[in-house]
Amino acid sequence: MKITVIGAGAVGATAADNITRKELAEEVILLDIKEGVAEGKAQDISQTAALLGFDTKITGVTNDYEKTAGSSVAVITSGIPRKPGMTREELIGTNANIVKSVAENLLKYSPEVIILVVSNPMDTMTYLTLKATGLPKNRIIGMGGALDSSRFKYQISQHTGASPSDLNAIVIGGHGDTTMIPLIKHATWNSIPVTQFLSAQQQEQVVADTMVGGATLTKLIGTSAWYAPGAAIAGMVESIVRNQKKLFTASVYLEGEYGEQDITLGVPVIIGKNGAEKIIALQLDEEDKAKFRQSAEAVRSMNNVLSESKII
Ligand code: NAI
Ligand code: 2OP
Repeated sequence: MKITVIGAGAVGATAADNITRKELAEEVILLDIKEGVAEGKAQDISQTAALLGFDTKITGVTNDYEKTAGSSVAVITSGIPRKPGMTREELIGTNANIVKSVAENLLKYSPEVIILVVSNPMDTMTYLTLKATGLPKNRIIGMGGALDSSRFKYQISQHTGASPSDLNAIVIGGHGDTTMIPLIKHATWNSIPVTQFLSAQQQEQVVADTMVGGATLTKLIGTSAWYAPGAAIAGMVESIVRNQKKLFTASVYLEGEYGEQDITLGVPVIIGKNGAEKIIALQLDEEDKAKFRQSAEAVRSMNNVLSESKII
């Protein structure tokens, strides 16, 4: 089994590190366009094998897709962050061209690959990958909800003292500060609603802090986060390669589910050896249904940039 990670930046290298440590494949390929970066980071990770005790081989390559041949799963993290003065449309255009060419190159050598899209704006990049490759919808999955749900659990734990792993809480909708929907009314601490432990004001705070979780870290660090994103990616890859059939929220193609069509958006989905295997219907109240519709509208307006710019 081979797993490829495209982009050896902060997120890609951390994901590759987690995937390698967990021995999710015999071989991991880390690919970047910048000469030497992937090779260097792969060698650094390899040099932890004796200390951490794993046998997975990790190889870094500079834009050499032949080395990715026969990958079962590929993770796309390549792209650029938004720069001062850059419009959202320009960012989408730049990253879309990168993601599209990466996906096409991957498919040339790994026709059976399941692709996990991470590059931002993630929901739009996932939609683009689906449209550009024409792959069946189960094989294109956007990672965002797994990360946002983990951040949601962190925020709940800060107010309740609960162990984050004792919590069940999910975030649906888009992977953006204003488009994500942390479902506080559905969150439980070992089956007991967390609303029982939190005042209305605390609940609002938890939801608000979750929604700006990524932006808060970007402000503190000066760039976007990588530890939790890397762990979230590895968790989803594990569910695919070990066929764990875990339930994540992930950005997947909707054909009527949750009242939406022709869009990829975060919903609960079972992840197994065939990728996104089954979308699970969750009964939402009118307030959350309206938020989901608004989230879809915002993501759809970003998706429209793809056709307006003739990228798809
Ligand atoms: P980074 O700048 O550290 O790494 C990006 C890497 O992509 C660089 O090493 C760059 O050389 C490489 N790259 C650029 N064009 C390429 C190409 N054509 N082929 C191969 N490699 C190429 O950025 P970082 O922090 O790793 O973030 C990566 C992406 O992930 C960003 O778009 C970021 O916004 C997104 N992100 C998404 C999250 C999510 O939950 N979906 C969470 C965190 C980050
Ligand atoms: C994050 O949520 C920016 O998508 C990135 O950390």
